[in-house]
Amino acid sequence: MKRIKAVYPGSFDPPTNGHLDLIERGSKIFDELVVAVLRNLDKAPLFSVAERRNMLEAMTSGFDNVSVETFDGLTVEYAMTVGASAVLRGIRAISDYEYELQMALMNRKLQPSLETVFMMPAEKYSYISSRLVREVAQLGGNIDCLVPELVAQKLREKMDPALKFVDVERLERKASERKSRSRKKKS
Ligand code: PNS
Repeated sequence: MKRIKAVYPGSFDPPTNGHLDLIERGSKIFDELVVAVLRNLDKAPLFSVAERRNMLEAMTSGFDNVSVETFDGLTVEYAMTVGASAVLRGIRAISDYEYELQMALMNRKLQPSLETVFMMPAEKYSYISSRLVREVAQLGGNIDCLVPELVAQKLREKMDPALKFVDVERLERKASERKSRSRKKKS
């Protein structure tokens, strides 16, 4: 019987609950699923490729048929190298569709034998993107429901300087409260 292997390519900076949901769905319909982290030298990522790979490996350790790899160059070439016959991509909302369609058609032009399969994550994850998670984390917001716990922990570690900044603000507030108290005492 033919075994179907798929590649799920992406930046995963950081991986989110939406990515995990898609990996779980993909692992149910494909015999093998390779989560492939793009090594993109153009972008300045928050997490290194190794960090993203480690997080994804930990997140997917419970799935027997899921592996995590890194790649550079064309997705279609990588997919052929690993013997995949499908590329998995997620569509959260209609706004994703145009870009995803363009990519899927370009990939088909480059490699007609490779199919792109779109899956939708659960609606509760439809607003989550890595870019927004990074932004919320950088501004000190709560990201606990957006990413797996181990990713939230890694984000907190990355944001440590920002957290210190928040502490500085608290200290400044306390200092100004002290000043106004001592002014009141004098008057
Ligand atoms: O998670 P992302 O950033 O939306 O993933 C985009 C990704 C990695 C799938 C796309 O940029 C990609 O396939 N890059 C590899 C280079 C390539 O094949 N480019 C042509 C795409 S049509």
